[in-house]
Amino acid sequence: MNQAETLKLTKPRMPGPFSPERSPRPTSRAHTPRVFTISSGKGGVGKTSIVTNVAVALASMGKKVMIIDADLGLANVDVMLGLIPRFTIQDVFSGGKSLKDIVLAGPRGVAVLPAASGITELSHLNESEKLFLLSEIEEFGDAFDILLIDNAAGISENVLYFALASQRRIIVVTPEPTSITDAYALIKVLTGRHRVRSYSIIINQTKGPREAIGVFRQLSLATDRFLTGVSLDYLGHVTWDDAVSRSIRRQTAVLDAYPGSQASRDYSTITENILAKEGEDDADGNIKFFWRHLVRGA
Ligand SMILES: Nc1ncnc2c1ncn2[C@@H]1O[C@H](COP(=O)(O)OP(=O)(O)OP(=O)(O)O)[C@@H](O)[C@H]1O
Ligand SMILES: [Mg+2]
Repeated sequence: MNQAETLKLTKPRMPGPFSPERSPRPTSRAHTPRVFTISSGKGGVGKTSIVTNVAVALASMGKKVMIIDADLGLANVDVMLGLIPRFTIQDVFSGGKSLKDIVLAGPRGVAVLPAASGITELSHLNESEKLFLLSEIEEFGDAFDILLIDNAAGISENVLYFALASQRRIIVVTPEPTSITDAYALIKVLTGRHRVRSYSIIINQTKGPREAIGVFRQLSLATDRFLTGVSLDYLGHVTWDDAVSRSIRRQTAVLDAYPGSQASRDYSTITENILAKEGEDDADGNIKFFWRHLVRGA
């Protein structure tokens, strides 16, 4: 690690909390804000890099975006973007802070609610804390067009909880057989236990579109054969590209560090596909619905 990188680890690139006053209102008041969860069966398949880069791509297309880091794992959204969390949900109750004080300002105005903010413990708050937080949230959630939730890998209660509270469930898969079988296991649990029917699939770390479509077909064949009424749609693929790990080391989005890279182009295509599918999101739920479920318990 060179000296600049060492400094980045200890110094936030954009000090200070996210400020809604400094950023525009949502670009359209006519449509409902959209909530997506990005999950995977197996860990380390590229969820966080997809979330951060799609968020940056959306922001560069003029959308107001917030990332919620729902993964307490090691490679967190704040670290990937060179941000340092300052407050937690507890500071909202005891330290006179408001929700917008714990949200960080990421690149291109992307708001980041870090994992260290205590977001995954929301369901354990007591009743008066929940009510207080809901009143904070009601107004705050409206400031965004799209909320992207970076989920932990696997099928824990928390993972299912966040996936259920969203309007579109994006599942990241790589060509590795274990990644495909673990994605299938996640879909099986969400379908069997919670009656979720539709999923969007992203194939990551692939050699190219041919391989990606092959992986998508493999997963579709398994769900068609063994699960009833499940539909998978193909949201796109990200080619295996060294620019991804190099940009993570620089704590910068690939789109900013290596805008001409293949991965950067792939993230942009996925983002365009997300925007094109706007009419196909689950109707149940919007940002307020999401927060209410999150705070009150699913
Ligand atoms: N398209 C890609 N090309 C090359 N390397 C990639 C690509 N996508 C992700 N990676 C690498 O894979 C690793 C894991 O990526 P990332 O942290 O985004 O995965 P994750 O699914 O969020 O992991 P976790 O389950 O631990 O949260 C990183 O080191 C990253 O550099
Ligand atoms: Mg991650």
